[in-house]
Amino acid sequence: MGGTGGKLLNLVLKVWRQTGKSEGKFVNYDAKGISEDSSFLEMLDQVNEGLVLKGEEPIAFDHDCREGICGTCGFMINGNAHGPQKHTTVCQLHMRVFKDGETLTLEPWRAQSFPVIKDLMVDRSAFDRIITSGGFISVDTGNAQDANCLPIPKPDADAAFSAAECIGCGACVASCKNASAMLFVSAKVSHLALLPQGKVERFERVENMVATMDQEGFGACTSTGSCSAACPKGISLANIAKMNRERLTSAIFKREAVQGDGI
Ligand code: FES
Repeated sequence: MGGTGGKLLNLVLKVWRQTGKSEGKFVNYDAKGISEDSSFLEMLDQVNEGLVLKGEEPIAFDHDCREGICGTCGFMINGNAHGPQKHTTVCQLHMRVFKDGETLTLEPWRAQSFPVIKDLMVDRSAFDRIITSGGFISVDTGNAQDANCLPIPKPDADAAFSAAECIGCGACVASCKNASAMLFVSAKVSHLALLPQGKVERFERVENMVATMDQEGFGACTSTGSCSAACPKGISLANIAKMNRERLTSAIFKREAVQGDGI
């Protein structure tokens, strides 16, 4: 719990408290004697311990790996998804980036498709439904040694690897004025479409995933780029362009198939 030393900080947390569909409100809490070496979530653990000891309800927030890889954590800190440090998830953020005496405003992701469960926790199952609609490979890809025998151009492998870095945290949606999920969906589509194993189902995949994204109520992309700027993994907007090309190619293939059949 907490850090191992360093300067101690006294902060004020202005935290959004809400249960389900009830009306939420900001509540202020003192976060005193916080080691600057603590992670942000360790600081919240410390505040929660104090609340529990006082018989008060702890602040609910999502977390799992605390290593920046699972995508479970994430909320707004002073209006920034995952806080002020670029390419850093909230679990990897350290208290040393804040100043003693600062007031930090903590809010959940604000998006219609991510309803608040409690306090800083939101329901991101809409992302799971998008993945279920096509974010996978169902063809037989053989065994490990078969993959090693498939030559993949280095630029494609690099681009696929970069897209695969998306951890599905939802910061892109929360930072977009339209609450668009295009960066998330495009990262998944690009990752698979760039690899030979994923090409087989590429058109079906992009159409199904985009249709599910729309059904889930995410907004349209207007190319503002705040999604990519806020992404803790720096997922590139180039993935959105790639996804749009996939959709266009799918439409052309479909039209040619229809014309070819003389329908
Ligand atoms: S808790 Fe896993 S990415 Fe933050």
